[in-house]
Amino acid sequence: MDFNQIFKNNEKWIAEKLASNPDYFTELSKGQSPEFLYIGCSDSRVTAEDLMGVQPGEVFVHRNIANQVIPIDNNVNSVVQYAVEHLKVKHIIVCGHYECGGVKAALHPSDMGQLNSWLQTLRDVRRLHKDELEKISDPQQLFDRLVELNVREQCMNIIKIDHVQRSWYKTGFPKVHGWVFDVRTGKLIDLGMNLEKEFMEIRVIYDLKPLENK
Ligand code: CO
Repeated sequence: MDFNQIFKNNEKWIAEKLASNPDYFTELSKGQSPEFLYIGCSDSRVTAEDLMGVQPGEVFVHRNIANQVIPIDNNVNSVVQYAVEHLKVKHIIVCGHYECGGVKAALHPSDMGQLNSWLQTLRDVRRLHKDELEKISDPQQLFDRLVELNVREQCMNIIKIDHVQRSWYKTGFPKVHGWVFDVRTGKLIDLGMNLEKEFMEIRVIYDLKPLENK
């Protein structure tokens, strides 16, 4: 694509928005109150807003390689805190996708420089679910399953976060959801995880019992 085409596209987009609502950008500039925080992969094929069919202002987005929620990553932690404490989002979604390059790299260990440390948590997911994964002989099935298990573990990482627990105890929100986007069909799949139940099972390890709930 011609680099300058992007700016032509932008002009066209502005014209389309204004044609349907002359106050579109005036209203947009007043602020945001999205109900969703979406944490997904940076992969160019997995465009958060497009695949959900949502408009600007409707979803707060964080993307990184292989949709990781790493406890000491200041970036993702700040996004989650802002979304929960200030935007008061009702739902946090971790969305993985089949054919994820990050997950593939974790399945085929090699020295990847800076990416080594980033992919380490993904390799940990593989180790954590070693027994289940070793029983899968089909390489595609194994790849797909690791994508799903990675989503599961990153959802678990969300519920370990203090801001999330604090809000949960106070309001019952946010609800945490694990999704997978199938790039082969375009389908968005809800993995149907019950994170509240999962949390109750591991509560003895991860419940921080936030101060105001003691
Ligand atoms: Co990916």
